[in-house]
Amino acid sequence: MGYGSRRDVQALIRSGRVTLDGRPVRDSGAETDGRQVAVDGKAVPLPGHTHIMLYKPAGLLTAARDREAPTVMDLLPPLCVKNGCMPVGRLDKDTTGILFLTDDGTLAHRLISPKRHVDKVYRAELEVPLPPDAAERFRNGIALQDFTALPAELEVLSLLEARVTVYEGKYHQVKRMFAAVGCPVVRLHRESFGPLRLDPRLGEGEYRPLTEDEIRLVYRAAGMEEKQ
Ligand code: URA
Repeated sequence: MGYGSRRDVQALIRSGRVTLDGRPVRDSGAETDGRQVAVDGKAVPLPGHTHIMLYKPAGLLTAARDREAPTVMDLLPPLCVKNGCMPVGRLDKDTTGILFLTDDGTLAHRLISPKRHVDKVYRAELEVPLPPDAAERFRNGIALQDFTALPAELEVLSLLEARVTVYEGKYHQVKRMFAAVGCPVVRLHRESFGPLRLDPRLGEGEYRPLTEDEIRLVYRAAGMEEKQ
């Protein structure tokens, strides 16, 4: 799992830094029995497909790798990266919030397919107040330079804050939709991706494996009823 040799890991376990469901375990022969394994409080994904929820902080690229800039992959344990865990869709460098990563390529592909219309919920802070007809314009589908956005739901939260649900994921889409109604976005945060809601216990830059329930839901959202 990227934590060293068998001997290194036995020493790690003896030192009490390894927990099962939060309880230190010092016996390297202990069975995991479906419990969550963690090292220094950080969840360790076990073999099989790896599905991760990450709270993306601002300042990182959503990319598998980049020659110069740090990417979200720098936050994950080496084994996840080695096993081919990839972000599903993209968030801009300055966007924060939920990012789903998986090493199941079929699942990833289906979730970002334009045919599937997986919903994403964003919270936006705006430079200027929204015009009174903004919700209606979002609902009718905003014409952008290269395409017309699918109808989206807009909920005004305060003078300079709104929540929007979109069903597609084109480049800079949410920022462009707000810009089209005259309101540049100053901060964008994704609260949910399909059936996955950002876990409030995660801090920026933290991640955890999906729960069994979340895995089931995410496969269902992809039209793959059977968990792989
Ligand atoms: N739309 C955007 O404009 N930016 C994001 O990061 C995600 C959706």
